[in-house]
Amino acid sequence: MTIEATRDSVVTEPKGFRSLPKHEPSAAPTIHPVWVRVTHWINAVAMLVMIGSGWEIYNASPLFPFTFPSSITLGGWLAGALLWHFAAMWVLAVNGLVYLLLGLLTGRFRRKLLPIRPGEVIADARAALGGRLAHDDLSVYNAVQKLLYLGVIISGIVIVASGLSIWKPVQLQELTALFGGYDTARFVHFFAMAAIVGFLVIHVVMAFVVPKSLRAMIIGR
Ligand code: HEM
Ligand code: HEM
Repeated sequence: MTIEATRDSVVTEPKGFRSLPKHEPSAAPTIHPVWVRVTHWINAVAMLVMIGSGWEIYNASPLFPFTFPSSITLGGWLAGALLWHFAAMWVLAVNGLVYLLLGLLTGRFRRKLLPIRPGEVIADARAALGGRLAHDDLSVYNAVQKLLYLGVIISGIVIVASGLSIWKPVQLQELTALFGGYDTARFVHFFAMAAIVGFLVIHVVMAFVVPKSLRAMIIGR
């Protein structure tokens, strides 16, 4: 038997047998495949543009007795904000559709986000508030994460559908009717935005608090 040393085989191993050396970074399993990372970051940018421009649109005709400070809105005035909103909506909708289709077809949603058991959500929420929730395996979501991720995905679908219904209320009148008419669709659109912003505040804090989670969403592991 010939014994030969190659770059990454162990000296005593027979030729042809390649063991995985422990120091190779590729040995670490991928936590987020590349399609999740790419669609996630495109979505993050598109969402921020949609939120900033949406707030400026809101300011032109507020639904509630408050407006958003112009320092945190995008577009400068109603027409500018509408241009941003209608440009980024294509990015958001197409990218969101790709993420949804791949999430369903690859079984990622089923594997990572389901099942969600109310008992586990309560137990994990208690543990999280008490600072006792472990984040040692980033490839498995806890019950609170599952609920929040599923919730924000559904809010994303609702905000796109309600947005389309107030964008083209005549051409898409069945969709507008589904939301209970134009005026209610506007409120639905607004509350979906509030849900997404609420999610984002917690989400971004957690991304910086939980070690290596941000790294995994950037380089995959
Ligand atoms: C395909 C996606 C979307 C479409 C087609 C869309 C369309 C629209 C339209 C047409 C308006 C103007 C409503 C009016 O004239 O009063 C609007 C307002 C607004 N949008 Fe969107 N939008 C979309 C996604 C989003 C997203 C992702 C967000 C934020 C997360 C958002 C936040 C807002 C806000 C805050 C307003 C102002 C609410 C109001 O005062 O009615 N939109 N959107
Ligand atoms: C710009 C700020 C953002 C940062 C820093 C950020 C960071 C992250 C990180 C680190 C993860 C993986 C964390 C984990 O293991 O749980 C993640 C996952 C996720 N984020 Fe974000 N994110 C941002 C914006 C958003 C936005 C705007 C949305 C949607 C409205 C979003 C939705 C999600 C979802 C659904 C997942 C789970 C993805 C999957 O596993 O398929 N994120 N994000």
